Amino acid sequence: MPPELTESCASADEARECGATAVAHPNIALIKYWGKRDEELLIPYVDSLSMTLDVFPTTTTVRLTPTAEGDSVTLDGSPAVDGERERVVAFLNLVRTMAGRAEPAVVNTRNSVPTGAGLASSASGFAALALAGASAYGLDLDPTALSRLARRGSASASRSIFGGFAICHAGRGTGAEADLSAYAEPVAVADFAPALVIAVVNAGPKAVSSRAAMRRTVDTSPLYQAWAASSAVDLADMRVALRRGDLDAVGEIAERNALGMHATMLAARPPVRYFAPETMAVLDTVARLRADGFSAYATMDAGPNVKVLCHLGDTARIAAEIRRAVPDGTAVIAGPGAGARLRPRAEP
Ligand code: PMV
Repeated sequence: MPPELTESCASADEARECGATAVAHPNIALIKYWGKRDEELLIPYVDSLSMTLDVFPTTTTVRLTPTAEGDSVTLDGSPAVDGERERVVAFLNLVRTMAGRAEPAVVNTRNSVPTGAGLASSASGFAALALAGASAYGLDLDPTALSRLARRGSASASRSIFGGFAICHAGRGTGAEADLSAYAEPVAVADFAPALVIAVVNAGPKAVSSRAAMRRTVDTSPLYQAWAASSAVDLADMRVALRRGDLDAVGEIAERNALGMHATMLAARPPVRYFAPETMAVLDTVARLRADGFSAYATMDAGPNVKVLCHLGDTARIAAEIRRAVPDGTAVIAGPGAGARLRPRAEP
């Protein structure tokens, strides 16, 4: 039994009663994952590399309810709606199969970031659910196995198991071989702590889910294969830049990788466009800051929000410039954060 649980629950039976609560943070990819080669096992086409954040935690409790008819899933205080509930129940089914158990569960999740807005709520969400679910059902998983389990909820969640910087291997082969070889692990970096200013220009849910957008891009974009090939080069360059602690190199590589990913989407048929006018305003601001001598580099995920990589000492100035450019938006300052962890017995 994980040490955090033994502290609060005297026995396996008691652990079942009190359940397990896990906290996980989102991560932002500096080298993006875009496209799945196996949609069932959620195996990415490309390796990716991310920084786990110290903001926007997700807190999830899983408590077993042996006498209930089925699972009960609550998201931010309200019953989860169709698609969300189905994803959680499918994930619990996977955990139950691994554990050889059948009891339904109550899942209670609180996100401190808007869900589905390209702010990586699925990464923190499934990392927290993987850890809380595995603990509640008595699975004793090492970090690699936990990362592989989190990947089955959302491939980017595999990276949020770890704090700091993590690489997610796209794995090799098919079926069980692919499943075993696709997981995240920490990467070595110099002793430096870059910051991200997160420009939230629109916190609403995205128009096209990342799942649908990826599929369309892989199936129809003539640019996809070229980006995937260049991403392998970006990853190798990024590892060198991180080991050196060279923020400008890290930023340049992250920006070209992200904009290349969006180019593949813009070339999809029909196109997938996550850019909003406010997105362009932030990208212009980043370019201007750079011209003024700041180390500031943009990355974007499946949504209109922009994350600006910079030195910790420059965050206040950069956040102020972003707020000036997009007065209705918000700018949140983040640094490298911790990996997923269990919390001693407490409801979120
Ligand atoms: O794992 P998903 O379905 O949330 O996809 C995330 C994809 C990106 O955020 C765009 C890139 C990444 O590697 O996180």
